[in-house]
Amino acid sequence: MLRQVLTRLSQEPRLRQMTVQNGMMRSMAHRFVAGESLPEAIEVVRQLNARGMHVTLDHLGENVSTQAEAAAAADDYCRMLESISETGVDSNVSLKLTHMGLDLGDEVAYRNTLRVVEAAAGTFVRIDMESANYIDRTLAIFRRLFADHKNVGVGLQSMLYRSEADAEQLVNEGARIRLVKGAYLEPPSVAYSDKADVDAAYVRIMRLLLSRGNYPAIATHDERMIDATKRFALDNAINASRYEFQMLYGIRRDLQMSLTRSEHNVRIYVPFGTEWYPYLMRRMAERPANLMFVLGNIAREAVPTRT
Ligand code: FDA
Repeated sequence: MLRQVLTRLSQEPRLRQMTVQNGMMRSMAHRFVAGESLPEAIEVVRQLNARGMHVTLDHLGENVSTQAEAAAAADDYCRMLESISETGVDSNVSLKLTHMGLDLGDEVAYRNTLRVVEAAAGTFVRIDMESANYIDRTLAIFRRLFADHKNVGVGLQSMLYRSEADAEQLVNEGARIRLVKGAYLEPPSVAYSDKADVDAAYVRIMRLLLSRGNYPAIATHDERMIDATKRFALDNAINASRYEFQMLYGIRRDLQMSLTRSEHNVRIYVPFGTEWYPYLMRRMAERPANLMFVLGNIAREAVPTRT
């Protein structure tokens, strides 16, 4: 219930304005977001690299409403790629098609993303998967890009009924897939509502990707999913170099470190930028304890200290 409310609030513009101005929420955002500027983000990439982890950088932003904003978002990604190359850090990039202008038309998003994919020659661009109503268009744009550029991949969400069939088709096409559970609020007509069903589908798709996929990314903080992946790989003699685990910046750092130490490829998804509100709300929705932490701090600040 709380999860649904928080996910809905992630799309609420007035709350966005109040939240980004609130000091406590800004400091909460720091736990999940690597600063607001590119140099800050590059510094975080360096630190993660020094611990043996790979990175994918995400410049936060989604659902832009003008062509100028969409073009500027693509320019920012091209600058990020330049900076990755100049500094020599180990990072690729992740982006959202609504940041590249998908709400303004497929052609706008395609052209902007193509610019980023071309600028990323030598590294890799992952297209995040957004809410279910964007999937057909996202996959169509991914396929157009992938026809000429093999350095692009896409995410799939195990919560959606359709994802197993999508995974099967994309594997046959040689696509590089990142598997996640799904962070958006979806109706029962398209998505499992029981966590057990989402997890069972996750394991089925993970097995398909590990068996026949092209360097899949198993993106989760769920130890049961991670154990299932390691066990399946072991039972089927799939070397750990053939896939990678991915996790979000600031979540389960202990697990990130222990997987890295056990010789697994681990990539951390590092978001940065000023547009952190919807991202933060999705992280709160995944774990309402995060919200309780913020509310607890606000309450403590409100109580005058006794000396
Ligand atoms: P689950 O939600 O079951 O959590 C397992 C455990 O992880 C929890 O018990 C807790 O310990 C920890 N945990 C999870 N979320 C936490 C949080 N917010 N704060 C603190 N602890 C937390 N989604 C999407 O729809 N489209 C996308 O493109 C992406 N992209 C993406 C990339 C990468 C690299 C990752 C890791 C995740 C995404 N996601 C995503 C988000 C994904 O769909 C999902 O919402 C989160 O990963 C949480 O699900 P888990 O698999 O971690 O399992």
